[in-house]
Amino acid sequence: MFYRPQDGHGLPHNPFNAIVTPRPIGWIATRGADGRDNLAPYSFFNAVAYEPPQVMFASTSAKPDRDGTKDSVANIRDTGVFCVNIVEFAMKDVMNKTSGPWDREVDEFELAEIEKAECDTIACARVAQAPANLECKLTQIVKLPGAANFAVFGEVTGVHLRDDCLKDGEFDVLSFNPLTRMGYRDYSVIREKFSLQRPGE
Ligand SMILES: Cc1cc2nc3c(=O)[nH]c(=O)nc-3n(C[C@H](O)[C@H](O)[C@H](O)COP(=O)(O)O)c2cc1C
Repeated sequence: MFYRPQDGHGLPHNPFNAIVTPRPIGWIATRGADGRDNLAPYSFFNAVAYEPPQVMFASTSAKPDRDGTKDSVANIRDTGVFCVNIVEFAMKDVMNKTSGPWDREVDEFELAEIEKAECDTIACARVAQAPANLECKLTQIVKLPGAANFAVFGEVTGVHLRDDCLKDGEFDVLSFNPLTRMGYRDYSVIREKFSLQRPGE
């Protein structure tokens, strides 16, 4: 089949986010100007540069009690910082709980009973037991086409790696099994890896 997005796909559900898969999940921690902590998963997320290390995530649609966006972008607009927490398979249910359309007053760390720790380089909470945390300072928020689409870019200013995830000097993803997002209600988990040598290496 072929379809132009502007004309609709004619399928029961939009296939778009099942096409670009699997996507890593950035579990984004932010703090409001009022000091309240917030946590929500974003799978329009990736690393975008090495030196200095940079990441991005994108927020789509808005919450009624926010100014045309969701809590995460609104908080980052106010404070200029956020922390990306990496999601392991064992955290899938608590991660999912933090994705609900909770009021801005709700601290999802408390709601889902997730242990917090304070970041070292920014004024923000992080998921204490996550395999890795990336403390980020906002570099830019880009307004994307559409009603409430924003891409948020940040420079990583601090990296936490859980001790048991380090093996022989490498961050060993098979030690925690990263959770990834597919389309619809589907996820996948990384339990296998293989290596390839690039031409010329
Ligand atoms: C695995 C997963 C990935 C998600 N990815 C995104 C995303 O990339 N962009 C987005 O706007 N919402 C995404 N959501 C929905 C948000 O998590 C949800 O709207 C949440 O309430 C936003 O919280 P906030 O208002 O505290 O930022 C995702 C939800 C789940 C469960």
